[in-house]
Amino acid sequence: MLPVPDTAIVVVAAGSGTRLGADAPKALVGIDDRTILRLALDGVFAAAPMQVVVVAPPGLEGVAEAEMRAAAGDRADLGRVVTGGDTRQRSVAAGLAALWGDVSTVLVHDAARALTPPALIDAVAHAVRDGGAVAGVIPALPVVDTLKRVEAADVVGAVDRSALAAAQTPQGFRREPLEAAYAVALASGAEYTDDAALFAAAGHPVQHIAGSERAFKITVPADLERARHLLSASRVRTARPQPGVPLPRVGVGTDVHAFGGEGNLWLAGLEWPGEQPLSGHSDGDAVAHAIVDALLAAAGLGDIGEHFGAAHPEYAGAHAEVFLARTRELLGEAGFAIGNVSVQFQGNRPRFSARRAEAERALSSALGGAPVAVAATTTDGLGFPGRGEGVAVTAVALVVARSAE
Ligand code: CTP
Ligand code: MG
Repeated sequence: MLPVPDTAIVVVAAGSGTRLGADAPKALVGIDDRTILRLALDGVFAAAPMQVVVVAPPGLEGVAEAEMRAAAGDRADLGRVVTGGDTRQRSVAAGLAALWGDVSTVLVHDAARALTPPALIDAVAHAVRDGGAVAGVIPALPVVDTLKRVEAADVVGAVDRSALAAAQTPQGFRREPLEAAYAVALASGAEYTDDAALFAAAGHPVQHIAGSERAFKITVPADLERARHLLSASRVRTARPQPGVPLPRVGVGTDVHAFGGEGNLWLAGLEWPGEQPLSGHSDGDAVAHAIVDALLAAAGLGDIGEHFGAAHPEYAGAHAEVFLARTRELLGEAGFAIGNVSVQFQGNRPRFSARRAEAERALSSALGGAPVAVAATTTDGLGFPGRGEGVAVTAVALVVARSAE
Protein backbone atom coordinates (compact mmCIF):
# COMPACT_ATOMS: atom_id res chain seq x y z
CA MET A 1 0.00 0.00 0.00
CA LEU A 2 1.31 3.43 -0.92
CA PRO A 3 0.81 6.17 1.68
CA VAL A 4 -2.20 8.38 0.95
CA PRO A 5 -0.75 11.45 -0.79
CA ASP A 6 -1.50 15.03 0.21
CA THR A 7 -1.15 16.23 -3.39
CA ALA A 8 -3.35 15.54 -6.41
CA ILE A 9 -3.14 16.38 -10.08
CA VAL A 10 -6.25 16.85 -12.21
CA VAL A 11 -5.36 16.07 -15.84
CA VAL A 12 -8.01 17.55 -18.12
CA ALA A 13 -8.33 15.58 -21.34
CA ALA A 14 -11.99 16.03 -22.25
CA GLY A 15 -11.63 18.59 -25.05
CA SER A 16 -12.54 17.79 -28.63
CA GLY A 17 -9.46 19.35 -30.23
CA THR A 18 -11.29 21.48 -32.78
CA ARG A 19 -8.14 23.32 -33.83
CA LEU A 20 -6.20 20.07 -34.26
CA GLY A 21 -8.89 18.84 -36.66
CA ALA A 22 -8.23 15.11 -36.12
CA ASP A 23 -11.08 12.62 -36.28
CA ALA A 24 -10.69 11.65 -32.61
CA PRO A 25 -10.77 13.80 -29.46
CA LYS A 26 -7.37 15.45 -29.08
CA ALA A 27 -6.21 13.42 -26.07
CA LEU A 28 -6.58 10.20 -28.05
CA VAL A 29 -4.64 11.34 -31.09
CA GLY A 30 -1.41 9.37 -31.56
CA ILE A 31 2.01 11.01 -31.59
CA ASP A 32 4.37 8.08 -31.97
CA ASP A 33 3.06 4.75 -30.76
CA ARG A 34 1.40 6.54 -27.85
CA THR A 35 -1.54 8.92 -27.59
CA ILE A 36 -1.30 12.47 -26.29
CA LEU A 37 -3.05 11.32 -23.11
CA ARG A 38 -0.69 8.40 -22.59
CA LEU A 39 2.38 10.61 -23.03
CA ALA A 40 0.96 13.18 -20.62
CA LEU A 41 0.23 10.48 -18.05
CA ASP A 42 3.67 8.90 -18.51
CA GLY A 43 5.05 12.26 -17.36
CA VAL A 44 2.57 12.59 -14.51
CA PHE A 45 3.25 9.12 -13.11
CA ALA A 46 7.01 9.72 -13.36
CA ALA A 47 6.64 12.66 -10.94
CA ALA A 48 6.44 12.20 -7.16
CA PRO A 49 3.49 9.98 -6.15
CA MET A 50 0.20 11.93 -6.04
CA GLN A 51 -3.46 11.25 -6.68
CA VAL A 52 -4.13 11.42 -10.43
CA VAL A 53 -7.62 12.36 -11.62
CA VAL A 54 -8.00 11.97 -15.38
CA VAL A 55 -10.90 13.92 -16.86
CA ALA A 56 -12.01 12.02 -19.97
CA PRO A 57 -14.20 12.91 -22.94
CA PRO A 58 -17.76 11.67 -22.30
CA GLY A 59 -18.11 8.10 -23.59
CA LEU A 60 -14.36 7.48 -23.67
CA GLU A 61 -13.84 6.85 -19.96
CA GLY A 62 -12.88 3.21 -20.61
CA VAL A 63 -10.17 4.18 -23.10
CA ALA A 64 -8.85 6.79 -20.68
CA GLU A 65 -8.84 4.20 -17.88
CA ALA A 66 -6.75 1.83 -20.03
CA GLU A 67 -4.30 4.62 -20.87
CA MET A 68 -4.10 5.57 -17.21
CA ARG A 69 -3.36 2.00 -16.15
CA ALA A 70 -0.72 1.57 -18.85
CA ALA A 71 1.05 4.76 -17.71
CA ALA A 72 0.61 4.11 -13.98
CA GLY A 73 2.33 0.73 -13.72
CA ASP A 74 2.26 -0.18 -10.04
CA ARG A 75 0.73 3.19 -9.18
CA ALA A 76 -2.70 2.46 -10.72
CA ASP A 77 -4.28 2.73 -7.25
CA LEU A 78 -3.48 6.44 -7.34
CA GLY A 79 -5.42 6.96 -10.57
CA ARG A 80 -9.08 7.60 -11.23
CA VAL A 81 -11.05 8.59 -14.33
CA VAL A 82 -14.04 10.94 -14.31
CA THR A 83 -16.21 12.35 -17.10
CA GLY A 84 -15.49 15.83 -18.46
CA GLY A 85 -17.80 18.75 -19.12
CA ASP A 86 -18.50 20.96 -22.11
CA THR A 87 -15.93 23.60 -21.15
CA ARG A 88 -12.45 23.23 -19.75
CA GLN A 89 -13.61 24.93 -16.56
CA ARG A 90 -16.41 22.38 -16.09
CA SER A 91 -13.97 19.57 -16.75
CA VAL A 92 -11.65 20.87 -14.04
CA ALA A 93 -14.61 21.15 -11.67
CA ALA A 94 -15.49 17.50 -12.38
CA GLY A 95 -11.92 16.54 -11.53
CA LEU A 96 -11.92 18.55 -8.30
CA ALA A 97 -15.07 16.73 -7.19
CA ALA A 98 -13.11 13.47 -7.21
CA LEU A 99 -10.28 14.52 -4.89
CA TRP A 100 -9.53 12.38 -1.85
CA GLY A 101 -10.11 13.85 1.60
CA ASP A 102 -6.40 13.96 2.50
CA VAL A 103 -5.44 16.10 -0.46
CA SER A 104 -4.43 19.66 0.41
CA THR A 105 -2.43 20.68 -2.68
CA VAL A 106 -3.98 20.46 -6.15
CA LEU A 107 -2.32 20.76 -9.54
CA VAL A 108 -4.42 21.28 -12.67
CA HIS A 109 -2.80 20.13 -15.89
CA ASP A 110 -3.70 20.04 -19.60
CA ALA A 111 -3.26 16.59 -21.14
CA ALA A 112 -2.55 18.55 -24.32
CA ARG A 113 0.84 19.52 -22.80
CA ALA A 114 1.87 15.95 -23.44
CA LEU A 115 5.65 16.32 -23.09
CA THR A 116 5.69 18.25 -19.82
CA PRO A 117 8.73 17.08 -17.85
CA PRO A 118 7.99 15.32 -14.54
CA ALA A 119 10.46 17.71 -12.88
CA LEU A 120 8.21 20.65 -13.77
CA ILE A 121 5.23 18.92 -12.14
CA ASP A 122 7.28 18.35 -8.98
CA ALA A 123 8.58 21.93 -9.04
CA VAL A 124 5.07 23.39 -9.12
CA ALA A 125 3.91 21.11 -6.29
CA HIS A 126 6.94 22.11 -4.18
CA ALA A 127 6.42 25.79 -4.83
CA VAL A 128 2.80 25.57 -3.67
CA ARG A 129 3.67 23.62 -0.52
CA ASP A 130 6.60 25.88 0.33
CA GLY A 131 4.90 29.07 -0.75
CA GLY A 132 2.81 29.79 2.32
CA ALA A 133 -0.91 29.91 2.70
CA VAL A 134 -2.68 31.00 -0.45
CA ALA A 135 -0.50 31.79 -3.47
CA GLY A 136 -1.20 29.92 -6.67
CA VAL A 137 1.84 28.90 -8.74
CA ILE A 138 2.09 28.66 -12.50
CA PRO A 139 5.00 27.73 -14.77
CA ALA A 140 5.63 30.45 -17.34
CA LEU A 141 8.10 31.21 -20.11
CA PRO A 142 9.41 34.62 -21.08
CA VAL A 143 7.98 35.92 -24.34
CA VAL A 144 10.77 35.92 -26.92
CA ASP A 145 9.06 37.42 -29.95
CA THR A 146 8.84 41.17 -30.40
CA LEU A 147 5.17 41.96 -29.89
CA LYS A 148 3.14 44.57 -31.75
CA ARG A 149 -0.27 46.01 -31.18
CA VAL A 150 -2.21 45.81 -34.46
CA GLU A 151 -5.44 47.14 -35.90
CA ALA A 152 -6.43 45.44 -39.16
CA ALA A 153 -3.31 45.71 -41.38
CA ASP A 154 -1.72 48.48 -39.33
CA VAL A 155 0.90 48.13 -36.63
CA VAL A 156 -0.22 50.71 -34.10
CA GLY A 157 2.23 50.26 -31.26
CA ALA A 158 4.82 48.22 -29.45
CA VAL A 159 4.28 46.02 -26.40
CA ASP A 160 6.88 45.75 -23.67
CA ARG A 161 7.52 42.03 -23.63
CA SER A 162 9.58 42.17 -20.42
CA ALA A 163 6.29 42.63 -18.57
CA LEU A 164 4.74 39.52 -20.18
CA ALA A 165 5.04 35.78 -19.69
CA ALA A 166 3.41 32.80 -21.43
CA ALA A 167 1.48 30.66 -18.94
CA GLN A 168 1.70 26.86 -18.94
CA THR A 169 0.41 24.01 -16.78
CA PRO A 170 0.42 22.31 -14.31
CA GLN A 171 -0.87 25.18 -12.23
CA GLY A 172 -0.81 24.55 -8.48
CA PHE A 173 -3.01 25.76 -5.64
CA ARG A 174 -3.98 25.05 -2.06
CA ARG A 175 -7.12 22.99 -2.29
CA GLU A 176 -9.50 25.03 -0.14
CA PRO A 177 -9.15 28.42 -1.80
CA LEU A 178 -9.18 26.75 -5.24
CA GLU A 179 -12.42 24.91 -4.51
CA ALA A 180 -13.94 28.09 -3.13
CA ALA A 181 -12.86 30.06 -6.21
CA TYR A 182 -14.37 27.37 -8.47
CA ALA A 183 -17.64 27.48 -6.56
CA VAL A 184 -17.83 31.26 -7.09
CA ALA A 185 -17.00 30.97 -10.79
CA LEU A 186 -19.53 28.20 -11.42
CA ALA A 187 -22.23 30.12 -9.56
CA SER A 188 -21.57 33.33 -11.49
CA GLY A 189 -21.18 31.59 -14.85
CA ALA A 190 -17.91 33.46 -15.47
CA GLU A 191 -15.45 31.62 -17.77
CA TYR A 192 -11.71 32.09 -17.31
CA THR A 193 -8.96 31.11 -19.71
CA ASP A 194 -7.03 29.22 -17.07
CA ASP A 195 -7.16 28.24 -13.42
CA ALA A 196 -4.77 30.97 -12.36
CA ALA A 197 -7.12 33.61 -13.80
CA LEU A 198 -10.07 32.07 -11.98
CA PHE A 199 -8.05 31.91 -8.75
CA ALA A 200 -6.83 35.49 -9.10
CA ALA A 201 -10.40 36.68 -9.76
CA ALA A 202 -11.27 35.37 -6.28
CA GLY A 203 -8.65 37.73 -4.90
CA HIS A 204 -5.71 35.37 -4.43
CA PRO A 205 -2.12 36.08 -5.43
CA VAL A 206 -0.47 33.99 -8.16
CA GLN A 207 3.25 33.57 -8.65
CA HIS A 208 5.26 32.05 -11.46
CA ILE A 209 8.22 29.73 -11.68
CA ALA A 210 10.32 28.88 -14.74
CA GLY A 211 8.33 26.89 -17.28
CA SER A 212 9.68 24.44 -19.86
CA GLU A 213 9.79 24.54 -23.67
CA ARG A 214 8.64 20.92 -23.57
CA ALA A 215 5.45 21.89 -21.74
CA PHE A 216 4.03 23.58 -24.86
CA LYS A 217 0.38 22.86 -25.63
CA ILE A 218 -0.51 20.74 -28.64
CA THR A 219 -3.16 22.88 -30.32
CA VAL A 220 -2.75 22.83 -34.13
CA PRO A 221 -1.36 20.09 -36.45
CA ALA A 222 2.13 21.67 -36.54
CA ASP A 223 2.36 21.13 -32.77
CA LEU A 224 2.01 17.37 -33.32
CA GLU A 225 5.00 17.51 -35.63
CA ARG A 226 6.98 19.44 -33.02
CA ALA A 227 6.12 16.83 -30.41
CA ARG A 228 7.18 14.03 -32.76
CA HIS A 229 10.52 15.65 -33.39
CA LEU A 230 11.16 16.19 -29.70
CA LEU A 231 10.29 12.57 -29.00
CA SER A 232 12.51 11.21 -31.74
CA ALA A 233 15.32 13.46 -30.53
CA SER A 234 15.01 12.06 -27.02
CA ARG A 235 14.95 8.55 -28.47
CA VAL A 236 18.25 9.37 -30.14
CA ARG A 237 19.69 10.65 -26.89
CA THR A 238 18.83 7.40 -25.13
CA ALA A 239 20.18 5.41 -28.07
CA ARG A 240 23.42 7.36 -28.12
CA PRO A 241 26.65 5.45 -27.60
CA GLN A 242 28.15 5.38 -24.16
CA PRO A 243 31.14 7.67 -23.49
CA GLY A 244 34.30 6.10 -24.83
CA VAL A 245 32.56 4.43 -27.78
CA PRO A 246 33.43 6.19 -31.08
CA LEU A 247 30.71 8.61 -32.11
CA PRO A 248 30.29 8.46 -35.93
CA ARG A 249 27.17 6.50 -36.82
CA VAL A 250 26.27 4.83 -40.07
CA GLY A 251 22.85 4.24 -41.64
CA VAL A 252 21.56 2.44 -44.70
CA GLY A 253 18.49 3.19 -46.81
CA THR A 254 17.01 1.66 -49.93
CA ASP A 255 14.20 2.67 -52.24
CA VAL A 256 12.53 1.14 -55.25
CA HIS A 257 10.15 2.83 -57.66
CA ALA A 258 8.43 1.58 -60.79
CA PHE A 259 8.38 3.61 -63.97
CA GLY A 260 4.98 5.14 -64.60
CA GLY A 261 2.93 8.31 -64.57
CA GLU A 262 3.09 11.55 -66.49
CA GLY A 263 5.71 14.22 -67.07
CA ASN A 264 9.47 14.11 -66.82
CA LEU A 265 11.63 11.93 -64.63
CA TRP A 266 12.93 13.45 -61.37
CA LEU A 267 15.91 11.61 -59.96
CA ALA A 268 18.85 12.54 -57.74
CA GLY A 269 17.44 16.05 -57.42
CA LEU A 270 17.51 16.64 -61.19
CA GLU A 271 14.81 16.80 -63.84
CA TRP A 272 15.53 14.49 -66.78
CA PRO A 273 13.62 15.73 -69.84
CA GLY A 274 12.54 12.95 -72.17
CA GLU A 275 13.13 10.16 -69.62
CA GLN A 276 10.24 8.06 -68.36
CA PRO A 277 9.09 9.25 -64.90
CA LEU A 278 8.97 7.12 -61.74
CA SER A 279 5.68 6.74 -59.90
CA GLY A 280 5.20 7.18 -56.16
CA HIS A 281 4.24 9.54 -53.36
CA SER A 282 6.02 12.87 -54.03
CA ASP A 283 8.06 12.84 -57.24
CA GLY A 284 9.30 9.22 -57.00
CA ASP A 285 12.93 10.33 -56.60
CA ALA A 286 14.26 7.02 -55.31
CA VAL A 287 17.78 8.41 -54.88
CA ALA A 288 16.61 11.18 -52.56
CA HIS A 289 14.34 8.80 -50.64
CA ALA A 290 17.09 6.25 -50.07
CA ILE A 291 19.36 9.05 -48.80
CA VAL A 292 16.65 10.28 -46.40
CA ASP A 293 16.25 6.78 -44.95
CA ALA A 294 20.01 6.32 -44.61
CA LEU A 295 20.39 9.64 -42.78
CA LEU A 296 17.43 9.07 -40.47
CA ALA A 297 18.67 5.56 -39.70
CA ALA A 298 22.15 6.81 -38.90
CA ALA A 299 20.73 9.30 -36.42
CA GLY A 300 18.20 6.83 -34.99
CA LEU A 301 15.32 9.07 -36.04
CA GLY A 302 12.99 6.51 -37.59
CA ASP A 303 12.31 6.43 -41.31
CA ILE A 304 10.93 8.36 -44.24
CA GLY A 305 7.37 7.10 -43.73
CA GLU A 306 7.30 8.50 -40.21
CA HIS A 307 8.43 11.98 -41.20
CA PHE A 308 7.23 12.39 -44.79
CA GLY A 309 4.63 9.64 -45.43
CA ALA A 310 0.98 9.78 -46.40
CA ALA A 311 0.17 11.50 -43.08
CA HIS A 312 2.15 14.50 -44.39
CA PRO A 313 0.27 15.69 -47.48
CA GLU A 314 2.46 18.81 -47.54
CA TYR A 315 5.22 16.68 -49.12
CA ALA A 316 3.09 15.30 -51.97
CA GLY A 317 4.86 16.29 -55.19
CA ALA A 318 7.85 17.74 -53.34
CA HIS A 319 11.29 17.39 -54.91
CA ALA A 320 14.55 16.12 -53.44
CA GLU A 321 15.77 19.43 -52.08
CA VAL A 322 12.71 19.75 -49.82
CA PHE A 323 13.10 16.22 -48.39
CA LEU A 324 16.83 16.51 -47.96
CA ALA A 325 16.78 19.97 -46.39
CA ARG A 326 14.11 18.90 -43.91
CA THR A 327 16.05 15.72 -43.10
CA ARG A 328 19.17 17.76 -42.45
CA GLU A 329 17.12 20.00 -40.16
CA LEU A 330 15.78 16.97 -38.24
CA LEU A 331 19.30 15.68 -37.76
CA GLY A 332 20.46 19.11 -36.67
CA GLU A 333 17.69 19.32 -34.07
CA ALA A 334 18.80 15.93 -32.75
CA GLY A 335 22.42 17.09 -32.52
CA PHE A 336 23.88 15.43 -35.62
CA ALA A 337 25.87 16.76 -38.56
CA ILE A 338 26.12 14.88 -41.86
CA GLY A 339 29.51 13.36 -42.63
CA ASN A 340 29.03 11.99 -46.14
CA VAL A 341 26.59 10.02 -48.24
CA SER A 342 27.21 7.33 -50.84
CA VAL A 343 24.53 6.23 -53.30
CA GLN A 344 24.35 3.20 -55.57
CA PHE A 345 21.73 3.32 -58.32
CA GLN A 346 20.61 0.17 -60.20
CA GLY A 347 18.68 0.56 -63.43
CA ASN A 348 18.93 0.71 -67.21
CA ARG A 349 17.89 4.36 -67.44
CA PRO A 350 18.68 7.15 -67.04
CA ARG A 351 22.37 7.09 -67.86
CA PHE A 352 24.10 8.89 -65.02
CA SER A 353 27.57 9.28 -66.54
CA ALA A 354 26.91 12.62 -68.27
CA ARG A 355 25.14 14.17 -65.27
CA ARG A 356 26.84 12.50 -62.30
CA ALA A 357 28.70 15.64 -61.17
CA GLU A 358 25.56 17.74 -61.54
CA ALA A 359 23.52 15.23 -59.48
CA GLU A 360 26.17 15.07 -56.77
CA ARG A 361 26.27 18.87 -56.57
CA ALA A 362 22.46 19.14 -56.32
CA LEU A 363 22.23 16.51 -53.59
CA SER A 364 25.20 17.88 -51.70
CA SER A 365 23.88 21.41 -51.75
CA ALA A 366 20.49 20.25 -50.41
CA LEU A 367 22.40 18.61 -47.56
CA GLY A 368 24.27 21.76 -46.64
CA GLY A 369 27.44 20.86 -48.53
CA ALA A 370 28.07 17.33 -47.19
CA PRO A 371 29.82 15.25 -49.88
CA VAL A 372 27.50 12.94 -51.86
CA ALA A 373 28.82 10.32 -54.26
CA VAL A 374 26.51 8.74 -56.85
CA ALA A 375 27.41 5.49 -58.59
CA ALA A 376 25.17 3.80 -61.15
CA THR A 377 25.03 0.35 -62.64
CA THR A 378 22.80 -1.80 -64.80
CA THR A 379 21.97 -5.28 -63.58
CA ASP A 380 22.98 -7.19 -66.67
CA GLY A 381 19.36 -7.58 -67.69
CA LEU A 382 18.49 -9.33 -64.44
CA GLY A 383 15.54 -8.61 -62.18
CA PHE A 384 13.07 -5.72 -62.39
CA PRO A 385 15.76 -3.08 -63.07
CA GLY A 386 17.13 -5.27 -65.84
CA ARG A 387 13.68 -5.66 -67.39
CA GLY A 388 13.30 -1.88 -67.33
CA GLU A 389 10.35 -1.98 -64.92
CA GLY A 390 11.87 0.38 -62.39
CA VAL A 391 14.94 1.34 -60.41
CA ALA A 392 16.48 0.35 -57.09
CA VAL A 393 18.71 2.59 -55.00
CA THR A 394 20.84 1.94 -51.93
CA ALA A 395 22.35 4.75 -49.87
CA VAL A 396 24.76 4.72 -46.97
CA ALA A 397 25.20 7.77 -44.74
CA LEU A 398 27.64 8.67 -42.01
CA VAL A 399 26.66 11.18 -39.34
CA VAL A 400 28.55 12.58 -36.38
CA ALA A 401 27.25 13.87 -33.09
CA ARG A 402 27.85 17.63 -32.98
CA SER A 403 29.99 17.39 -29.86
CA ALA A 404 32.39 15.12 -31.77
CA GLU A 405 32.71 17.34 -34.86
N1 CTP B 1 -10.44 20.35 -21.99
C1 CTP B 1 -11.32 19.59 -21.23
N2 CTP B 1 -12.68 19.76 -21.36
C2 CTP B 1 -13.16 20.66 -22.25
C3 CTP B 1 -12.27 21.44 -23.04
C4 CTP B 1 -10.91 21.27 -22.89
O1 CTP B 1 -10.89 18.76 -20.44
N3 CTP B 1 -14.49 20.77 -22.37
C5 CTP B 1 -9.00 20.12 -21.87
C6 CTP B 1 -8.38 19.62 -23.16
O2 CTP B 1 -8.55 18.22 -23.28
C7 CTP B 1 -6.94 20.04 -23.06
C8 CTP B 1 -7.00 21.26 -22.16
O3 CTP B 1 -8.31 21.32 -21.61
O4 CTP B 1 -6.11 19.06 -22.49
C9 CTP B 1 -6.63 22.54 -22.91
O5 CTP B 1 -7.64 22.86 -23.85
P1 CTP B 1 -7.41 23.02 -25.42
O6 CTP B 1 -5.98 22.93 -25.76
O7 CTP B 1 -8.20 24.20 -25.84
O8 CTP B 1 -8.07 21.66 -25.97
P2 CTP B 1 -9.42 21.48 -26.79
O9 CTP B 1 -10.49 22.30 -26.20
O10 CTP B 1 -9.62 20.02 -26.90
O11 CTP B 1 -9.00 22.04 -28.22
P3 CTP B 1 -9.79 23.12 -29.11
O12 CTP B 1 -9.91 24.36 -28.27
O13 CTP B 1 -8.91 23.29 -30.33
O14 CTP B 1 -11.12 22.49 -29.43
MG1 MG C 1 -10.34 24.52 -26.14
